[in-house]
Parts: sequence; C-alpha cells; structure tokens
Amino acid sequence: MRKPLMAGNWKMYKTPAETASFFEKFLPLVANSPHCDVLICPPFVDIAAAVAAAKGSSVAVGGQNLYWSTKEGAFTGEVSGPMLKAAGCASVIIGHSERRQYFGETDETVLKRTLAALESGLQPIVCVGERLEEREAGRTNAVLETQFRDGISKLTPEQFAKVVIAYEPVWAIGTGKTATPEMAADAHRALRALVQGAYGKDAAAAVRILYGGSVKPDNVKGLMAQPEIDGALVGGASLEAVSFASIVNF
Ligand code: PGA
Repeated sequence: MRKPLMAGNWKMYKTPAETASFFEKFLPLVANSPHCDVLICPPFVDIAAAVAAAKGSSVAVGGQNLYWSTKEGAFTGEVSGPMLKAAGCASVIIGHSERRQYFGETDETVLKRTLAALESGLQPIVCVGERLEEREAGRTNAVLETQFRDGISKLTPEQFAKVVIAYEPVWAIGTGKTATPEMAADAHRALRALVQGAYGKDAAAAVRILYGGSVKPDNVKGLMAQPEIDGALVGGASLEAVSFASIVNF
C-alpha cells in the first residue's frame, strides 16, 4: 500500500512571518491526519521559520529546488542539498514545469539535481508533464517517456526507490483547469508502466506518483478516488491553512 503524500508548493509566496502564522492555523487542522504524509515547500528564506513552526508535528518541510553541486562553492544565488538538509528539509521538488519553462531546466539538469538530492539525503519529488500543445497533438505519453528516459530512468534501483514522481500537466498548473481524474490516472498508468520497464514490477507498485495542477478542496476527492493517484502537489490551494488542510483531510 502506498501512503498518500500531500505536498504544498508555495512558489514565490509568503514571508517568514506569514509562514509562522500559516503553521499556527494549519497544524491543529492536520493533527489527526495519519492517513497521509504532509509536506510544505516554502521559498528558501521561509524554511527556517517553517521548520521551527513544524517542530514536534508530523508535517515535513522541503525545498523547491537545489543546485546540483553538493559541495559548497562560488555559485551565486544557488542553494545546495546539504544546506537544505541542514536547515531541516526532508524533501525537495525538482524539475517543476515553471523551472523548465522560465529557468532553462532540462531533463539533464533534472537528473543532476535528483542525484544531488539523493546524495544529500533528501527525497526528490521529480516533476514531469506535457504542455497543452503536446497533449492536443496526442503526444502526452511520448513526452512523459522522454522526460523519464532522459531523467530518472538513469538512477540505480536503490536511488530510484527514494524518488516520488509528480505528474503535472503544464496546462493545468495555476489555470483552474484540472485534469479529470481519468486523464490523470491514464498518465499515471503510463508513468508506472515506464517505471516497470526500467525497474521492475515491485518498483512500479511501490513508487508514489502525485498529481499536480489546480488541485482544490472540491476536486481532491475525485482525484484521490483513483487508485493510481498517490497524493497531490498543490500550488495555489496550499497557501491558505483551511484550504490545504481540507485537501490533506480529503
Ligand atoms: P496549482 O500549482 O495547484 O496552483 O495549479 C501546482 C504546482 O505548480 O505544483
């Protein structure tokens, strides 16, 4: 059985003070939610506030990106895996479509960052997903295959066992257009088949695949009713405590 993971991706929202007040409201609302793992990925500058606020709770904190060198060095503006780990992070999002679209992220750099996360003891949450024109051209599965092949298929089985995959159709992110539960489940099945091809049946049965893209309190139930969907990566609806808690408590 795969335990669901509900992960909030705060993107470039909230200050440290706003982070603290989110946790004050959020923690009591998810205090009795042992059915799933809960993760908040705030901006780097809010990680200390989030880790302090989450102390003693079961809510974990993660980064939204990391640099692929695990050694400190002259890389202005970058943050390393060991730094995230030392700051109290458990996980890190890698290859989010906004990173791919606006910041030059490629399957190759996704792989490098995934290796750095693993080397740092962080759980990588690796994002894949097609753009609207790719879906309309019937290329969804081909795109997922390329992203998988050139990215996380190159890990060892031991490394892969620590990875969470997030299927995030780019056209559904921040647009209010959610994939239907069936569309999402189809893509998850395609991804699981790729995992099976590369790592075998047990790895395919074990890997958690999250859905991301306009997950809201009113559509999470339908998505989670699909056995293929093991949780959600939530942007906008994770910013407000009551909203994200109702997603966690789907
Ligand atoms: P959204 O973002 O929930 O605001 O669509 C999801 C994501 O980008 O991870």
